[in-house]
Amino acid sequence: MSAYLPLLNKRAVVTGGSRGIRAAIVRRLAAEGASVVFTYSASPDAAMTLVQEIITAGGRAFALQADSADPAALQAAIRRAVERLGGLDILVNNAGTLVHALIDDFSQADFDRTLAINVRAPFFAMQEAARHMKAGGRIINVSSNVAVSAAVPGASVYGLSKSALTAMTRALAHEFAPRGITVNAIQPGPTSTDMTAGMEDYIIGRVPAGRMADASEPAALVAYLAGPDASFINGAAITIDGAMTA
Ligand SMILES: NC(=O)c1ccc[n+]([C@@H]2O[C@H](COP(=O)([O-])OP(=O)(O)OC[C@H]3O[C@@H](n4cnc5c(N)ncnc54)[C@H](OP(=O)(O)O)[C@@H]3O)[C@@H](O)[C@H]2O)c1
Repeated sequence: MSAYLPLLNKRAVVTGGSRGIRAAIVRRLAAEGASVVFTYSASPDAAMTLVQEIITAGGRAFALQADSADPAALQAAIRRAVERLGGLDILVNNAGTLVHALIDDFSQADFDRTLAINVRAPFFAMQEAARHMKAGGRIINVSSNVAVSAAVPGASVYGLSKSALTAMTRALAHEFAPRGITVNAIQPGPTSTDMTAGMEDYIIGRVPAGRMADASEPAALVAYLAGPDASFINGAAITIDGAMTA
């Protein structure tokens, strides 16, 4: 009996680079049968390595360079992806940046860049996606458990950006639901990626589960929300953090 592929023939765009949670999301969506176009900003070699890995495994993937801080470039990349894929069924807004600093040291440039990448980019990606998605479409925003609870000092601007993303997710679910499209957020807790490198000992003591997530765990939740069993989940923000904010 051949394997059941819940996302077979689905066409997905994932924003972000080729590392961390996003790479795990791309791998998972491709493994479940989707054709995936993903964006990257600064890591072309990692992007190409990921594309090659997925093609070698029998999947379909393609990478496009687009800085999420530039809404016009991001929207143009989504249009190119739609042309290449022949349509769009799944958008995952994953690209994110974390500047960890106390208020005394936080620059205005870092404030603006955090909001540009973590909030403005998902909004304009969803605006572009809305022009191409039909009923059955799925949008998943990668927020954070800092939208639930401010766990550490120095994450005020990151926290406000992720709270805004979760709030925007709920609001846009009302706009997309009548069109048969779902908009949900996942709120991961600490996950082992470059973003959390060097912070492991500090973080693990705050997680009741006693460990950080593997990137495959939030990726599995994204795939579930993109799949046929999640058709009535809309406007939800699902926390996946080993009870850290429970
Ligand atoms: N790791 C965690 O503990 C954790 C927890 C909760 C939520 N999150 C969220 O999960 C998402 C992924 O985080 P991660 O841990 O996988 O981070 P990561 O390992 O630092 O990777 C971040 C990704 O975002 C991309 N990116 C950054 N700036 C970009 C830009 N301006 N334009 C396009 N892509 C850009 C990077 O691509 P390039 O290398 O090509 O620049 C990279 O692939 C983020 O939204 C983050 O806030 C992470």
